[in-house]
Amino acid sequence: MKVLVIGSGGREHALVWKLAQSRRISQLFCLPGNAGTASLATNVNIPIHKYRQILEFAKDKRIDLTLVGPEAPLIAGLADLFRQNKLTVIGPSAKAARLEGSKVFAKKLMKKYAIPTAKFSVFKSLSKARAYARKQLYPLVIKADGQCLGKGVAVCRTYAKANEFLTKLMKNKLFGRAAARVIIEECLIGQEVSFMAVTDGTDFVTLLPSQDHKRARDGDRGSNTGGIGAYAPVPFLTDEMIKLIEKSIIAPTIAAMGKEGNPYQGILYPGLILTEKGPFVLEYNCRFGDPETQPLMQLLKTDLMDILTAIQRKAVGKLKITWKRGSAVCVILTAKGYPGKYVSGMEINIPENMNKLINIFLAGVKKQADKITAGSGRVLAVCARGETLEEAIKLVYSQIGKDVIHFKNMRYRKDIAQKGLEASLWKNLK
Ligand code: AMP
Ligand code: GLY
Repeated sequence: MKVLVIGSGGREHALVWKLAQSRRISQLFCLPGNAGTASLATNVNIPIHKYRQILEFAKDKRIDLTLVGPEAPLIAGLADLFRQNKLTVIGPSAKAARLEGSKVFAKKLMKKYAIPTAKFSVFKSLSKARAYARKQLYPLVIKADGQCLGKGVAVCRTYAKANEFLTKLMKNKLFGRAAARVIIEECLIGQEVSFMAVTDGTDFVTLLPSQDHKRARDGDRGSNTGGIGAYAPVPFLTDEMIKLIEKSIIAPTIAAMGKEGNPYQGILYPGLILTEKGPFVLEYNCRFGDPETQPLMQLLKTDLMDILTAIQRKAVGKLKITWKRGSAVCVILTAKGYPGKYVSGMEINIPENMNKLINIFLAGVKKQADKITAGSGRVLAVCARGETLEEAIKLVYSQIGKDVIHFKNMRYRKDIAQKGLEASLWKNLK
């Protein structure tokens, strides 16, 4: 089969790495891809937002199956365009991708179908939003309805902060139409986990749970980032809890989407928070997580093509997914300044002949002659697999530094997966 992966991040490098091991693929393309995917697939030099050009490419090359990595093309309707042209694509329609594209859509759906989520109200008017915020208990969470490059959510400790953020969204229109509607919701407390399921619209199979690290600094301090470290599986997520998440969140979400006339096909990834009252949905994503996909692909034993074709053939009910033993940990090396204005152009050193349990998944990396250089905030992911989480953590950090993987002024968190490690040590003591 000829397969096309759309995207250019570390997630897509990991997906392409896994797909490149499939015997079922004769030709693999990545659009636009990056320096990492270039060594495993043919990169296609078409901008990711040129949907007509992407369609023409897929038709011209007779692509059998396309997997869409990021959310933007799905929200914009790329999957619909492909299906209208009788091309197979993995990912939800624009209507179904509203689960990620519109937080108001997602919250209303959850309320209607009693899927656990924080209590909320929706506002179109700044004065009404302010009046409401004034009467609430703090902290309080404010969210823009649409996509705001990860900057549309604020957890506010005081009314002054809430008012400042509401003003930014609704008066200064920092994110334009994306904040035409604003959600104000209660602040939940608990560990956050990423939970992904593959679904054909009727049946689903869940992937190993994982945990992302969004804050820039150790101890979950500092600014929010796109995610700078992840690990899987999550030791404190018991089998009972996983069953509860499947029953109270995944199954009813897929059923609700079908009932509302927006059947959901592809990867459904709710971001969850595990509260004292059980798991709640913070948000939905309509795709694989980045960077969670990197450790997940390291652990996945099943051919990824078997998973993708099961989705396409509506055979997820018969799909069995198997995983390698142990844990995987991924640490993202970022450029100085990220998530703000960052520096670029640093030469990256990656030793040859790395340990087989290590994978480097490139994100913002440029290749010039025989040099590779940093070209974006999240530069690359160093991933390691171990028999235990502790082993994987040790291995991954042993590969980052002066004589191993490094570049000038690189930044990274030193405590990736510690929350999981603490929980697993505690579990062993019991
Ligand atoms: P979202 O884009 O909705 O996932 O929000 C981004 C981040 O804001 C989440 O990863 C949480 O850390 C935080 N957050 C969002 N909603 C809530 C909430 N209701 N309670 C506590 N934290 C939240
Ligand atoms: N890991 C966060 C995201 O993929 O949105």
